[in-house]
Amino acid sequence: MDIATTPTNPEGNPELADAARTPHEPPVILREDYRPFGWLVPEVRLDFDLGLTRTRVRAELTVQRNARADHADTIRLNGDGLKPLSVTVDGAAADWRMDGDDLIVPLREDAHLIAVETEIDPTANTQLMGLYASGGMLCTQCEAEGFRRITFFPDRPDVLSVYTVRMHGPKAVFPILLCNGNRVAEGDNDDGTHWAEWNDPWPKPSYLFALVAGDLVANSKPFVTCSGREVECNIWVRKEDLARTDHALESLHRSMQWDEEVFGREYDLDLYNIVAVSDFNMGAMENKGLNVFNTKYVLADPDTATDADFDAVEGVIAHEYFHNWSGNRVTCRDWFQLSLKEGFTVLRDQLFSQDMRGEAVKRIEDVRILRAAQFPEDAGPLAHPIRPDSYREISNFYTATVYNKGAEVIRMMRSMAGVERFRAGTDLYFDRHDGEAATCEDFVRAIEDGAGLDLAQFRLWYSQAGTPRVSVSQKVEGDSLELTLRQTVPATPGQPDKQPMPIPLRVAVHSRAAAALGAEQLVVLAEAERTFTLPLSGPDPVVSINRGFTAPVVIERALDREDLVFLAAHDDDPFARSEALQELAVGHLVGTASGTLSADQQAAGEAAIIGAFRSSLADAALDDAMRGELMMLPSETYLFEAMATGERKADPGAIHAAREGLKAAIGSALADELGALHARASAVPLDDPAGRGARKVKTQALVYLAAADPGRTAKLAAQQYDAADNMTDRQGALMVLCGLDCPERDERLAAFHARYKDNALVVDKWFTLQALSLHPDVIAQVRALAEHPDFTMRNPNRVRSLYMAFAGNPQGFHDASGEGYRMIADVILALDPINPQTAARFVPSLGRWRRIEPARAALMKGELERIMAAGKLSRDTFEQVSRSLE
Ligand code: PHE
Ligand code: ZN
Repeated sequence: MDIATTPTNPEGNPELADAARTPHEPPVILREDYRPFGWLVPEVRLDFDLGLTRTRVRAELTVQRNARADHADTIRLNGDGLKPLSVTVDGAAADWRMDGDDLIVPLREDAHLIAVETEIDPTANTQLMGLYASGGMLCTQCEAEGFRRITFFPDRPDVLSVYTVRMHGPKAVFPILLCNGNRVAEGDNDDGTHWAEWNDPWPKPSYLFALVAGDLVANSKPFVTCSGREVECNIWVRKEDLARTDHALESLHRSMQWDEEVFGREYDLDLYNIVAVSDFNMGAMENKGLNVFNTKYVLADPDTATDADFDAVEGVIAHEYFHNWSGNRVTCRDWFQLSLKEGFTVLRDQLFSQDMRGEAVKRIEDVRILRAAQFPEDAGPLAHPIRPDSYREISNFYTATVYNKGAEVIRMMRSMAGVERFRAGTDLYFDRHDGEAATCEDFVRAIEDGAGLDLAQFRLWYSQAGTPRVSVSQKVEGDSLELTLRQTVPATPGQPDKQPMPIPLRVAVHSRAAAALGAEQLVVLAEAERTFTLPLSGPDPVVSINRGFTAPVVIERALDREDLVFLAAHDDDPFARSEALQELAVGHLVGTASGTLSADQQAAGEAAIIGAFRSSLADAALDDAMRGELMMLPSETYLFEAMATGERKADPGAIHAAREGLKAAIGSALADELGALHARASAVPLDDPAGRGARKVKTQALVYLAAADPGRTAKLAAQQYDAADNMTDRQGALMVLCGLDCPERDERLAAFHARYKDNALVVDKWFTLQALSLHPDVIAQVRALAEHPDFTMRNPNRVRSLYMAFAGNPQGFHDASGEGYRMIADVILALDPINPQTAARFVPSLGRWRRIEPARAALMKGELERIMAAGKLSRDTFEQVSRSLE
């Protein structure tokens, strides 16, 4: 839809009248249009006079003509909703003008000092970008383009400056004043105000600027770096949260140590501050020396946080810490290069967590996330390469593709190079580009040079979107196996034709008849089709492929049920074992949902899955953490993807029914085993090292038992709830109860709320459990929850806890009535004027309409059209909705 060129006489035509309400179609920014900025800004001085409803900002920029850019006689300083109160150049009033939101200042010489004053109202800032108020404190969020909401500035990541920041405010309101770098001076005034001056010696782009002022306390512990420097580490929170910060602080220390050992990276300041805020659009932000975190990724203790929450805190703390090198010391030239820092940093945090918690389970979890979030994105209207070519609003590109597929792409380079040579590549990258704003191309070249790889063709992974599909066929020739692999990369928006990409796959050829396991080797499929000759380990070869998930692809093959059962029980790669079980379940469930299985096939498939479950329940060699993974059926989102291939569309109702049916069949066939597992796991104490795994399988057992025998399981779940001495058990029990229609449900939900009503993060869980539940009345329940006094559209965590959870509830969201779709569209419309970034994040769930069966697809599309017709959309939402309708 082309709104900008719509004829201007909308009278009598409601469609045009509506469309005309979006005054300008936001412009498209192209990667190929990148030019260096005309000016360098080596130094920035900021002076903040802080107030919750009125903050004055005076900015002084030292600017110098950039010899490497085109000559310019003006400077463009980006602004967003700002008015310049005064503008001077070298102390004299300047002849400035506005161009839209930007400030244009004429400059004659090669070097100048520009001073600009602005004023902002942090309390009115509901977008949570720039300087905003949260729970009585002030904090900032500048990535990607929030700094321009604080002061006028060349707000682009390739302009690097040394910042000196002075702030001043009432001491009673803001006893703690924090900024990037080191505090260099501070003092009290007679009028109840105080001030502090901070300096960050490391040149940085504006998106890494941060300031925090508030009534905070710290949990502190010094870290001694490999060269013997002591770093003061602080986790700043509100007083009542202090007791829940030890895990975050320990995680920070472990991350610092790990990055020294594994990537040779030492921290470069004497101070590392982390501040937790409860109003935050994302997970956390890596501002230099002053990370700002969503409370969700800082606060944890066993009474209020699950084991998964503990892991998430550790992972996000590590992620932001690792950005100090991959992101801050080496930053991005422009936002198209976002995966340069994000993909690499996600890989680094994944490897860290693998080392902390065990490789196999972490890998299985990461692949599950990739399949649930990134594969659907890559198959839909919002598909984009990990290095996009264009955007209207960069906030829309903080995606699973840029982050998680970006990490997979770098992981493939690591698999091809081997760990040591990959390290040589990353050493060279940090060395070569330290202090620079670099590109993805710079990264690839450093890995090529440092690791000695040829990545010429591999670069396609940066430019081509879409999940490659690799089909597998095999033939025995004498004493070897001819393995033929064919790849296709599906068409994606703007990219109809694709070239083959190098796909590294770890494979092994086992023998079912001889019960022999073959040796593993790495093959790289670089052509559209190629046949590899592999040694046999005995008769009846069974190929184990993409072991450890070396490549982010879909493997297409038709393995016998018996072969999959064999792999699930015997493969020596634990990832491949879980994969075989998933494959078995996907085949069965998609077949059931599409009605293509005969009654015999149906029964045989179910029996095979139950048999595989029974083996993993009985397998004494497995630990519970791994057993818990093997007990997890593929998610409904992943099943949609598997069902929607070729001309076939996904049928959410049929998938849900098939999956619930299988759960019930497992629960009744294995009732005794699952009951015994629950009893055994319940006896493991909280602090036993085996406790985490035990808690995982305990709730899993309940899930299957509940599907088979809701009445009895309600009692068991209520017992688990009442006996719980930790949040993992309590939340697990409540999750199961939420899906059941029983008195225990309402009683425990009320008890949970009463117990935790003062803890926002746990109240979020209370909303989420209900929004995600399998209860038949979930839509009505969510509507009622939106009226609950604890609900607000102003807090992103709360909005997500109810509505993101609901949008991810396949049964409720895809209700055949279309009511779920309407509810999410209403949320987008209501939230867009308050917080466009968060509003736009709801669009992809509706955007999947093309892959869904026609009745639901029409309803989903209708809601997108309704949003579009409402007009006055933010850039964020406009971009996502229009792409979803194209
Ligand atoms: N850069 C942050 C991270 O990946 C994410 C983020 C993006 C946070 C934009 C806020 C705003 O760690
Ligand atoms: Zn990041």
